[in-house]
Amino acid sequence: MEIAESTVSPQARSQKPSEAMDTYLSKMGNNLVTKFHVLMRISQIYDSKNVALQQFTQESLQAINALIEREGNLSLKIIKNDLYLNAQRLRYSVEGFTSFKYLITQWKKRLIGEVMFKGVVNEEILKNFIYLLMNLEDGQEENANRVNEELARRDLFMIEVNPLEISEGEEEAVAFRKEDQREVAKKVFFETVGTIKEVITHIQGKQQADVRKLKRLAQKAVHLVMEDESILLGMTTIKNYDEYTFNHSVNVSIYSLAIGRRLGLSRKILTELGIAALLHDIGKSKIPREILNKPGPLNPEEWVLMKKHSLMGVEIVLNLKQLGEINPRMVIGVFDHHLKNDPSGYPKLFRKKEPGLFGRIIQIADCYDAMTTPRIYKKTPFTPEQALAVMLKDKEVQFDPILLKIFIGLVGIYPIGSLALLDTREVGIVSRPNRDPQWMDRPQVMLVARDAKGYAKKEIVDLTERNENGRFKRSIVKTLDPNKFHIHIPKYFL
Ligand SMILES: [Fe+2]
Ligand SMILES: [Fe+2]
Repeated sequence: MEIAESTVSPQARSQKPSEAMDTYLSKMGNNLVTKFHVLMRISQIYDSKNVALQQFTQESLQAINALIEREGNLSLKIIKNDLYLNAQRLRYSVEGFTSFKYLITQWKKRLIGEVMFKGVVNEEILKNFIYLLMNLEDGQEENANRVNEELARRDLFMIEVNPLEISEGEEEAVAFRKEDQREVAKKVFFETVGTIKEVITHIQGKQQADVRKLKRLAQKAVHLVMEDESILLGMTTIKNYDEYTFNHSVNVSIYSLAIGRRLGLSRKILTELGIAALLHDIGKSKIPREILNKPGPLNPEEWVLMKKHSLMGVEIVLNLKQLGEINPRMVIGVFDHHLKNDPSGYPKLFRKKEPGLFGRIIQIADCYDAMTTPRIYKKTPFTPEQALAVMLKDKEVQFDPILLKIFIGLVGIYPIGSLALLDTREVGIVSRPNRDPQWMDRPQVMLVARDAKGYAKKEIVDLTERNENGRFKRSIVKTLDPNKFHIHIPKYFL
């Protein structure tokens, strides 16, 4: 660990004048980093009117303005793993270690490399800036531009940020991490589909199924959803017609996890939700295949049987060998997943019961995935946009309004996997919804184009990008039905 500059003897410093930063400046710099660290942290918990936040804004302000008065301006810049104050390396004190680490990690995550204060700032300006900074999405290259544009829009020209400068080795590491995550996501996805298939086959053959494996996979999925939900959400575009039951379970689990994450559920509860969602239709393994895959409408007797699948699912789950891995919340989730307070819900109960949280989440995920997947009796499924419209309108099918709102916020008004026609006459596939509610209609889009070898190019563009005259470079004109254009969406996510 580095030693505080102040603890280095004057002789030692005078031997290396070029490296030395004067003790006073070093102290002020350390103080600033510590104050900034707390401010960044607090801004993630409280809104701008909170008393503690105001206090630390004031303390940070004193630190910033004192430095500006002394130095004229102030730049804090990350170079590799160090912080530089006005181009001089700032050494951290032992107590300052946590603050340095936090600041560097948080800026790096958001690809922000430098913050410059070009004049004295006040409380309002600093608060504005902190929230802008901390609300940035991780890993977005345009983050620095976004902050500068927003600051300029609010006439706050005294602060400017610069993107993180990534040295060659690091650049590869960042790209590798992304690529790696995608690979891990793919592996988890297909392994889970395989495991669910195994579980169902075992149950049909009256053998014991391995739930622990499902739990491990659910834990991995939770981790992936926490890191970057759009990678796993992209996988849900794989709508496998022949292996509907298995894919459907995994997709419902991914959507449920993404909703649960937005609700702020803990990793432990998310894992339980993931498993419950994976098992939600397990009762169907006891229903004859002819009924499940019947091309026409079911007759009344078949419906009676079909409607028993949630109850049969509970029975199967309670008979699992590793029952210790299952808790009542998960069992109730399976039981509740078709329970509604209208005639369409089942099973019918003697006493009215509201579906629990897991059940309400799974209902939304279940319905959306079922509607957007081709089935033997409905070969052309709804587009993501059509499915959301039905879910919002259909009075027969009612959902928890808040959860539905969260889900729509999650998939965006143009959900991942939507095919869109752009005003540039290009066609793109929505790859990541925009998290900023004011730009819900401007997601990231993967352009449909092929390279010379005929492979999908997978070039991603951000629809919030503007050209020199301030106009948006690309906008969505309308969504298209991929079935009509013979575009195989999942290919772009694999
Ligand atoms: Fe079901
Ligand atoms: Fe289902």
